Amino acid sequence: MINDNAPVGATPLDPDEQEGCKHKHITTREQLDELEQVNIQQGLQWLQRYRQKDVLTDAFMRKLHIRLFGEVWSWAGTYRKTEKNIGIDPREIAVQLRMLLEDAQFWAANATYPPLEAAARFHHRLVSIHPFPNGNGRHARIATDVYLNKMFDHRPIEWAHGFDLQANNQRRIDYLAALRAADKGKYDLLFRFVGISG
Ligand SMILES: Nc1ncnc2c1ncn2[C@@H]1O[C@H](COP(=O)(O)OP(=O)(O)OP(=O)(O)O)[C@@H](O)[C@H]1O
Ligand SMILES: [Mg+2]
Repeated sequence: MINDNAPVGATPLDPDEQEGCKHKHITTREQLDELEQVNIQQGLQWLQRYRQKDVLTDAFMRKLHIRLFGEVWSWAGTYRKTEKNIGIDPREIAVQLRMLLEDAQFWAANATYPPLEAAARFHHRLVSIHPFPNGNGRHARIATDVYLNKMFDHRPIEWAHGFDLQANNQRRIDYLAALRAADKGKYDLLFRFVGISG
């Protein structure tokens, strides 16, 4: 039921992952979206008060996922254990995530890429790892804005551009097309999507 009406490009939940829902009364995708949205707002408020700079750690990535989804999912902040249609072998998540965070640290320290380019690369690798059973897109968009803010003192990306990125619309189609192109090593669409002109 929870997987019904999911937007394109969303990751379906396995039955054992659905078990982890803390609200046993919910039956529809709409109810779930609503509960997650409330939780995410709480998480964003926590983030606004978060003053530390040590965001490029796996502990912070997991903490952020807990703050965004922990009221809804008991497995929030824990890496997925099952294969999904997107994402690497679950046994590789911990190592690949650490490598990404080290690379992202290096890019910032050495100005390897301009901020938005570093952010686009960081975002694509994070969603490609797909660390969690669900909420990877939302977590990774917020984590990317945190990366821009803390490491580059840069404003957040305009992900939604007036659309609802959770729903099926042209902005989401463009977002997924950009990620799929990046899967093949072509980053132009994603660079344009995050607001790099030219
Ligand atoms: N081909 C792809 N390559 C890399 N990442 C992808 C691809 N297709 C989808 N994704 C990412 O996976 C996300 C969906 O995963 P998941 O369902 O865990 O996230 P979500 O936050 O629940 O949903 P969403 O962000 O889609 O509303 C997408 O938002 C996108 O970031
Ligand atoms: Mg999802």
